Amino acid sequence: MLENGKLWYDTNGGVLHAHGGHILLDKDGYYYWYGEDRRAGVYVSCYRSKDLQNWEFRGHVLTVDSPTQPCRMRTKLALSRDVDDAEYEKYSTIGVNAVIEHRGKKIGKINVERPKVLYCEKTGKYVMWAHYENGKDYSDAAALIATCDTPDGEFVYHGAFNPFGHMSRDCTLFKDEDGTAYFISASRDNLDLHIYRLTPDYMNVAKLVGTPFQAELREAPAVYKKDGKYYMLSSWCTGWAPNQGKWAVADSMDGDWSLLEDFGDETTFDSQPAFVLQKDGRDIYVGDRWGGNGEKFFTSTYIVLEIRYKDGKPYIEFDEKAAW
Ligand code: GAL
Repeated sequence: MLENGKLWYDTNGGVLHAHGGHILLDKDGYYYWYGEDRRAGVYVSCYRSKDLQNWEFRGHVLTVDSPTQPCRMRTKLALSRDVDDAEYEKYSTIGVNAVIEHRGKKIGKINVERPKVLYCEKTGKYVMWAHYENGKDYSDAAALIATCDTPDGEFVYHGAFNPFGHMSRDCTLFKDEDGTAYFISASRDNLDLHIYRLTPDYMNVAKLVGTPFQAELREAPAVYKKDGKYYMLSSWCTGWAPNQGKWAVADSMDGDWSLLEDFGDETTFDSQPAFVLQKDGRDIYVGDRWGGNGEKFFTSTYIVLEIRYKDGKPYIEFDEKAAW
């Protein structure tokens, strides 16, 4: 039994690092869980499971050594940056894990957060979108894309960019029943959320179709569809510290969203939304309980709670047991 807020281990006994992540149910019947892993040289790890209890580590699917390949639009293609001795001395000792020695070279890791992966039927590719930063600060505010032919192989990095020139931080992906995919991310220094419809190959933004919650500082978006309506969970903007979660609903992804209403308690039970998993007709909230920066990051845990409804409004109650 997986307990909420405790460290979880994979089937080899390693701590499960899939923070800020996302689960994809593949056609092979496995649930693939992707998430942030800040160990030296690593960006994104992948685990898989059939029962959501026993997680098999499948690999570090995006790392400083991942293959890179340009795509048809202009992107930033480097997966690390050169650092000088002074920067190395400064940052390697304070444990931010953004500056490392790798293959005898001192490098600055970029920062990859909130990776999400969708399968694109049209191209047969697994397409990852994530939040990209330069590893020093949060000024790049860009979206990263990578692809793979299998769910758990080495992803090819296609670079990072600012959608239509906009800032893009906390993010998520949502795939509708007809295969149309959307990328949702925090823009304008996190003041607004943007909803972009993706191109049919999921490799670019096609159109900015919505700008809900103007200046309401929403982060950590998670979108799901229930009975023909679109629900979005999000947090407020307080860094690693948890805050009151909120939900909103819309009739279409490009439509008008309802006013934000509370979801969970004043700290969302000490968590921030990562994603919603739908299984056997149930909607399941997965949140991160963040440890913080540097080494504390690795003490981050997860909480998994079933979303219930009262008068059509989604809510969660805390339970020790992970609800999947
Ligand atoms: C949070 C965000 C996380 C991470 C963190 C860094 O607000 O949701 O993904 O970026 O800030 O402080």
